Amino acid sequence: MRDVTLDIRLGEIFVLLGKNGMGKSTLLKTVMGFLPLLGGRMNLFGSDISGMQPYRIARKAVAYTPQEQALFQDLTVGDNLRLALRDDRALKLGLERVGVFFPFILERLKQRAGTLSGGEQKMLLVARALMTRPRLLLVDEITEGLQPSVIEKLAGVLKAERKQSEMAILLVEQHVKFALEVADRYAVLKLGEIVDRGDIEDPGVENSISEHLTV
Ligand SMILES: Nc1ncnc2c1ncn2[C@@H]1O[C@H](COP(=O)(O)OP(=O)(O)OP(=O)(O)O)[C@@H](O)[C@H]1O
Ligand SMILES: [Mg+2]
Repeated sequence: MRDVTLDIRLGEIFVLLGKNGMGKSTLLKTVMGFLPLLGGRMNLFGSDISGMQPYRIARKAVAYTPQEQALFQDLTVGDNLRLALRDDRALKLGLERVGVFFPFILERLKQRAGTLSGGEQKMLLVARALMTRPRLLLVDEITEGLQPSVIEKLAGVLKAERKQSEMAILLVEQHVKFALEVADRYAVLKLGEIVDRGDIEDPGVENSISEHLTV
């Protein structure tokens, strides 16, 4: 990454777009502290988190949904959720809230997570992240390989949650339509640098983004 400056505000959805191998996941991993910061600074809610360990960043109410498989495949749905939460009370409250969006989770708590379908696993990941009540939510290409109706559902969930809770959401995406539907602001990453950025409501955004993702 070079000269990447991003500010993500509470209550907004910021989408980071870019083609394969442009550095999107690298950026999220760096924010979470999984990759070293070679220069520059990171600020979270006014405090400097540069060089902090991932577990300490997570404790600051940051939830991260990685691109690669992140569920414990051999544990049940319920145990996957329980591991992310403080106690059973938090689990119960979380299920009440998130179960409204993803009712299948309530019915499958005892099912092994690895036996959920790909789409169900993605929804479980988002549900788990939301149940931790993050103030910053980082999501890496959640729409990859999902059917349109599930993508619509995720868009609805993220928009509703953004409205309800004061949360900042940073989405990494290649799905332009989804990005346009949910995001407030966007940036396009190309070989580790930001080549385009702006308001999603700006005129001509769709063409500009699509061009960056196809050319
Ligand atoms: N630890 C590493 N060692 C060497 N190269 C790496 C490492 N991590 C990432 N890269 C390279 O950096 C580039 C950016 O990777 P990154 O995973 O950030 O891409 P991305 O924008 O998320 O792409 P995609 O959309 O395919 O997920 C890739 O070419 C990748 O191979
Ligand atoms: Mg990636």
